[in-house]
Amino acid sequence: MALSDHWPLFGLRIRTPSLELRTPTDADLAELVELVLDGIHDPATMPFVTEWTDTESPQLERGALQYWWGCRAGFSAESWDLPFLVVSDGAVVGVQNLTGRDFPTLRTAETGSWLGLAHQGKGIGKEMRRAIVHFGFECLGAVAITSGAMVDNVASRRVSLAVGYEPNGTSVVNRRGVRTEHIRYLLTRQRWEESRADDDVRVEGFEACRAMFARGAADPA
Ligand SMILES: CC(C)(COP(=O)(O)OP(=O)(O)OC[C@H]1O[C@@H](n2cnc3c(N)ncnc32)[C@H](O)[C@@H]1OP(=O)(O)O)[C@@H](O)C(=O)NCCC(=O)NCCS
Repeated sequence: MALSDHWPLFGLRIRTPSLELRTPTDADLAELVELVLDGIHDPATMPFVTEWTDTESPQLERGALQYWWGCRAGFSAESWDLPFLVVSDGAVVGVQNLTGRDFPTLRTAETGSWLGLAHQGKGIGKEMRRAIVHFGFECLGAVAITSGAMVDNVASRRVSLAVGYEPNGTSVVNRRGVRTEHIRYLLTRQRWEESRADDDVRVEGFEACRAMFARGAADPA
């Protein structure tokens, strides 16, 4: 039997006209680490609330691997972090995350993402976000999807607005010791449904995964 027979998330595929999103195998993680080492952002800026890219090599690579392995190991129906590998023209270009907490009750998930520097500014960010919100609403039955971006992260903020999220308040975070505004965004199911006429996202392999998201599914006791 294949690993995906025991862990159906490995068989999940979210496709757009030019992208494939899938849960990364260990071989995929090796490619992702290379992408991280090639750079995600100008070191003068910090787009992430968790300042993980400030870590020096080799702890950067090891910490990233431990984070991705931890996402797999920590999965439960109630609480999950799903980092989807993003593939464009056969090349690994970045990660689109979807995170749920107490999801069967709250039915709200949070998106987060990054692309390797060489792949930014080409429309991939918007396309992969459209893909993940389709998955969250259509497959998981979310009622709302949220996101957040530093006030000076114009690209991320424009992705949220282009996909239909609306501004939903501001929090403040400690970024490298400086008080910084973090803009919150909200996409409701109703708003997504109103704008999905041209939805071209397709999901394969979800039926095998569905039971993993059912309440109590990860509790063998
Ligand atoms: C944020 C990120 C995922 C966006 O993906 P992307 O592929 O670069 O963005 P797109 O090409 O889809 O562009 C999205 C919008 O932002 C605009 N944009 C892209 N790069 C920009 C830049 N450097 N400055 C200003 N606007 C920019 C585009 O014109 C587009 O706007 P539009 O919808 O009004 O036409 C990507 O830039 C990235 O990985 N950045 C570093 C990590 C990061 O910031 N992650 C998010 C943390 S919240």
